[in-house]
Amino acid sequence: MLVTGAAGFVGRHLTRRLLDAGHEVHAVDNICPLTGAIHVAEGWPLFEPRDYPGFAFYEEDCREWFKRRPDSDFDCAFHLAAVVGGRLVIENNPLAVADDLSIDAAYWQWAKRARPARSVCFSSSAAYPVSLQRSEGYVLLRESMISFDPTSASGIGMPDMSYGWAKLTAEYLARLAHQKHGLAVVTFRPFSGYGEDQDDTYPFPSICKRVLAQRGAPLIEVWGSGRQMRDFIHIEDCIDGVLTMMDKIDDGDAVNLSTGVFTSFSDFARLAAELAGYAPEVRGLSDQPEGVFARAGDTTKQAALAFTARTSFRQGVARALEYLKV
Ligand SMILES: NC(=O)c1ccc[n+]([C@@H]2O[C@H](COP(=O)([O-])OP(=O)(O)OC[C@H]3O[C@@H](n4cnc5c(N)ncnc54)[C@H](O)[C@@H]3O)[C@@H](O)[C@H]2O)c1
Repeated sequence: MLVTGAAGFVGRHLTRRLLDAGHEVHAVDNICPLTGAIHVAEGWPLFEPRDYPGFAFYEEDCREWFKRRPDSDFDCAFHLAAVVGGRLVIENNPLAVADDLSIDAAYWQWAKRARPARSVCFSSSAAYPVSLQRSEGYVLLRESMISFDPTSASGIGMPDMSYGWAKLTAEYLARLAHQKHGLAVVTFRPFSGYGEDQDDTYPFPSICKRVLAQRGAPLIEVWGSGRQMRDFIHIEDCIDGVLTMMDKIDDGDAVNLSTGVFTSFSDFARLAAELAGYAPEVRGLSDQPEGVFARAGDTTKQAALAFTARTSFRQGVARALEYLKV
């Protein structure tokens, strides 16, 4: 198995599951600034990949790795490498994020030559049109709301900054890789994956840590209005979704990784405080960005592919607070 971006948040969890299942994992990651990467030598928070004989780590830009490794024997290539970062990076550093266009182009050029038996690609909920995520008239985002079929009425709409744009392009390339080169490809659109070991630039760990650090305080602040809503899906559910559905699509088609539940940042902070044993007022920090108003993903297609996320947000927050408080 090949995992690009393996030292990132999703990559670490995926690598663990693949190693536990007995696979050989070739992990490629250049520990890119602005991302959630953690170097293997620093110790990954939840497990030690170097304990597994099948683990090989290449500290290298995957674009360079692709040039020198025309291997043809990968059962599966999980392509996670991306410059992503939290909201501040997406909004304030859109040209750094645009590197994703070149990373994905290099991936497909490699895949065309190396022909991994399957490519598992990671788009994002950020690829959906932002017009469907406004305070007036927001909806659960369905996979068919992005269509590359020129005869379809839905087409594509303006996505979330250069990040969403790069992901849309990645999805289009995935379909072309199948149509023009016969590669087996599946694309995932994760919503707000979260977990206790996520980078602090993401709302999930930062709100949990703030709630713990200010335990008993009368006021907790969250970014934006606090009314903005996301679809929080536990990272282990994300990985379950990937492993359950990846063999069921091979034409590049995309499927959400979502729960279908809208949770506001204010409600999240209230829940975390309740679990930590207090009930503060929660107030928005209007000088900090909030991104789109409401982003959650329809689950119908996932259910049809036999996947349903199992961890409730309450369980996920409780688990993270337990881990972070020590
Ligand atoms: N975490 C989520 O909830 C979520 C949501 C939507 C989409 N995704 C997608 O899933 C993938 C992984 O996201 P993540 O949350 O783990 O992000 P992350 O920032 O934690 O990990 C990305 C990893 O890619 C590596 N990387 C960047 N450029 C590279 C390059 N040129 N060569 C090799 N490695 C490189 C980084 O060093 C980092 O380790 C990304 O494609 C992201 O867009 C994740």
